[in-house]
Amino acid sequence: MVKLGVNIDHIATIRNARGGIEPNPIVAAGICEIAGCDSITVHLREDRRHIKDEDVRTLRKTLTTRMNLEMAATEEILGIALDVKPHSCCLVPERRQELTTEGGLDVAGNLPYLKDYIAKLNDGGIIVSLFIAPDEKQVNAASKAGAQYIELHTGQYANDFNTPNEDLAFNNLKQAYLQAKELGLQVNAGHGINYHNVTKLLAIKEFDELNIGHSIISKAVFTGLENAVREMKELIS
Ligand code: PXP
Repeated sequence: MVKLGVNIDHIATIRNARGGIEPNPIVAAGICEIAGCDSITVHLREDRRHIKDEDVRTLRKTLTTRMNLEMAATEEILGIALDVKPHSCCLVPERRQELTTEGGLDVAGNLPYLKDYIAKLNDGGIIVSLFIAPDEKQVNAASKAGAQYIELHTGQYANDFNTPNEDLAFNNLKQAYLQAKELGLQVNAGHGINYHNVTKLLAIKEFDELNIGHSIISKAVFTGLENAVREMKELIS
């Protein structure tokens, strides 16, 4: 069965808007777990715009599922990851000006650096995933880099959903998925997945996990977080 990872960064974004403690990401994670999610993702960005170091450290102690730490492949965050020891790290590109993670990681263009970086995380007992575009060159490079997982960037598919380009974007994901499986990689997917476009993605049956943030937290504003997570969990199972 395809698993559901919930990204709770937006809870921290709302909290930080007032600089206080509400809404509390630790509580949010607990509610997502009660609702049946399989893991919690937090992105510790270089600029700490939402999730803070303390959130990561507390969550590591309180989560009853798995922690997936999204991060840029920098020396600073490597030190934190090796100290906190999340179950997995997902390496993503990061630009300060972006609203969210906008593209996939260029693994092919940074292979020696990433290979070494991944080895350090693996030596610390942490599984590594690379967030990449559904692109043949990048999938090959992810395998060469020694990652255990890739997370396919579904942003293009989400943007093209319900347009004439939908099938092309979907087929690109499917191709990349098949190639990755052939290379022995586990495959997750994420970015822009919502209650409408998720069903078609499930035609790719062996995605290990879908990582979803924005649509779940948005729905939670109206229906409550527990209901929003349950509804997505039901859709994907
Ligand atoms: N996966 C990765 C690697 C991401 O960077 C993000 C966005 O933070 C997500 C999944 C979740 O995307 P969304 O918030 O659009 O569901």
